[in-house]
Amino acid sequence: MELQLDSISKPIENQKEDEFEKSFKEIISTLPKSNGWGVSKDLCQYQGFWLHPNFLRGVVAAQQRFQAQPTDIILCSVPKAGTTWLKSLTFATISRTSFDDSTTPLLSNMPHEIVPFMELHHAQFFTNKDRGIPLLSTHIPYPSLPRSVIDSGCKLVYICRDPKDSFVSMYHFIARNLTSRKVQPLGLDEAFELFCEGQCFYGPYWDHVLGYWKASLEHPDKILFLKYEEMRGDTVVYVKKLAEFINYPFSSEEQENGVPEKIVKMCSFEKLSNLEVNKTGVYGELGTGFVENKTYFRKGEVGDWKNCLTPEMAARLDQITMQKLSGSGLSL
Ligand code: A3P
Repeated sequence: MELQLDSISKPIENQKEDEFEKSFKEIISTLPKSNGWGVSKDLCQYQGFWLHPNFLRGVVAAQQRFQAQPTDIILCSVPKAGTTWLKSLTFATISRTSFDDSTTPLLSNMPHEIVPFMELHHAQFFTNKDRGIPLLSTHIPYPSLPRSVIDSGCKLVYICRDPKDSFVSMYHFIARNLTSRKVQPLGLDEAFELFCEGQCFYGPYWDHVLGYWKASLEHPDKILFLKYEEMRGDTVVYVKKLAEFINYPFSSEEQENGVPEKIVKMCSFEKLSNLEVNKTGVYGELGTGFVENKTYFRKGEVGDWKNCLTPEMAARLDQITMQKLSGSGLSL
């Protein structure tokens, strides 16, 4: 069996399930806790990163049981950096011989339903693989990835973004979700403080990015490192690069026929955010309950932080970014 995470959501062997629950409880009881931005439970610091307990359960299960295959493709991201977009583009690229822009499942399914998260909806991965779509995604920080992901040599594609825009995106995402459940969201200042201190979902943000950045320098053939802003600048170029990297290159004929351009248009913010499924649907059980699909499609702009952060806040985040990335060769 390639993926053995059944016990998280679908207990097949109760004894194994009990053992897992027991060891998970032991692990979680020892971890430092922090304010979870008002989302049900506190975040737990695990292997240097702050995780919501429901995601943490999936991370621990994946570390113990996930067996990656060399042909798997794992889309990795720091939250609110363009995960939904990357999933759409990669899925449309891989499935282009089966579907076109009038038949693609992206028209009626939210991208997170199509490309499941390793730490949440592993079962779907099996089904997708059987259909020739070996695509999985994760927010797991590089040092915490299941050993088999590194050992298998499967391809990883990572996306990150200007931390100022990711913070603003995360703040709105959580505020909208809490408001829809009639829960008072955290104030912007308080959330900002937590973000700066690294206490956000899968944070510290900079450590997450640096982990994948350094790994991508060491293994450029295995890890493609992308930035949201650069992809927004010339998406067609990056989709071609992505296709090449994951071994689904566009043929000359496809390029002459404008296939990459059609994929980019199909996956554009304008197109996806206006689909009925993304306007009105809900994404089930994101570990913390149902999430309205529309909250994944807010503005899709580069530099929207200007509408939300004071110049002082922006300067503080830039300062932290400069300090953290100093000497790494990376700028955000
Ligand atoms: P904003 O909140 O700044 O608008 P993630 O998918 O990692 O959760 O990131 C969410 C961010 O990606 C949101 O940013 C969202 O609007 C943006 N996004 C979603 N779909 C997109 C698309 N097709 N093209 C560009 N950006 C997109």
